[in-house]
Amino acid sequence: MKLFDVYSLFDITPVRAKGTRLWDEEGREYLDFYSGHAVISVGHCHPVYVTAITEQLNKIGFYSNSVINPMQVELARKIGELSSLEDYSLFLVNSGAEANENAVKLASFHTGKDRMLAFRHSFHGRTSAAVAVTDNPKIIAPFNARQKVTFVDLNDLDAVEAELAKGDVAGVIIEGIQGVGGIRIPEDSFLQDLRRVTKEYGTVLILDEIQSGCGRTGKYFAYQWAGIEPDLVTVAKGMANGFPIGGVLISPEFKATKGMLGTTFGGNYLAMAAAIAVADIIREERLIENAREVGDYLKARIPASPRIKEVRGRGLMLGIEFHESAVELRRKLLFEQHVFTGFSGTSMLRLLAPLVTTRDDVDTFVSALSAVL
Ligand SMILES: Cc1ncc(COP(=O)(O)O)c(C=O)c1O
Repeated sequence: MKLFDVYSLFDITPVRAKGTRLWDEEGREYLDFYSGHAVISVGHCHPVYVTAITEQLNKIGFYSNSVINPMQVELARKIGELSSLEDYSLFLVNSGAEANENAVKLASFHTGKDRMLAFRHSFHGRTSAAVAVTDNPKIIAPFNARQKVTFVDLNDLDAVEAELAKGDVAGVIIEGIQGVGGIRIPEDSFLQDLRRVTKEYGTVLILDEIQSGCGRTGKYFAYQWAGIEPDLVTVAKGMANGFPIGGVLISPEFKATKGMLGTTFGGNYLAMAAAIAVADIIREERLIENAREVGDYLKARIPASPRIKEVRGRGLMLGIEFHESAVELRRKLLFEQHVFTGFSGTSMLRLLAPLVTTRDDVDTFVSALSAVL
């Protein structure tokens, strides 16, 4: 059997990683300024994280959600503290798309309504409801296209209100910062207005923090920059530093009933050990503060160049937008300078460096960028 060939691959085989670095099979060292798509938060192979998963595997690796697992309760408490959403509840799943799937479902259960509002350039995942609220027709199959979804422009409050006024909108889903769509930041005042109008119209506000969450923007969740509290928040990626996990943080207004949601693997012991270790490391090593400080340093150090149109983002979630295609520049960064970066479209270099990134790492990145510019 061969692999289903859906990924464009770099001709690189990483075999080892530590902190902000990876090494390929020839021993070549790479600086990671992309975190494998916003996943690495506390750094590759952090010793506390490795020990937590290893020790857990020697105790118990798996049982289903039909028994008491105190680690789930411990994780919920720790995420509550980190996010200041102590009175919310946590539903644990296995990926970002699955978190959004359940959030959309909850919004619909809660309101009894069946239409979703999402934003242009959004990305929320590739499963049924998640892909339906994603603004990319190329990845929406005819089956998914049958769901009721309306897309409006980011920061366009009038358009949102006009849709909410129709009375059939179960939920509005928005990324804390649009990642795949090009590091587009909802204005703080827009998020505050969105919170107000969704309350007025009895519509559920879902914040997708799958890419922008877990501290990378210099707050635990990016929406906290606007000082709001959503009804539902979805998390994944950085939450367990690469161990598959996802979660929905659910406001106290939602009442759980037995069997309403469920999953086989969600909340398993290994994912709990990984996510608890990540939460502890983030707190003990003050990584949210580090992301903010080092992110500010990075933003300030990006060299001025006539080729660069704009630098935007928060903390270590930054986009460098070029006037023209940056495909060749990114290729050179990887193959000549040995630095991993990401893309949004073809003219934006997307940086999602681990939360443990240092000023020295930034200096290394800046010289690499200057060299290819
Ligand atoms: C904002 C956002 N939501 C949802 C997802 C989907 O997450 P997953 O790939 O874990 O299903 C992603 C993945 O890139 C994302 O960036």
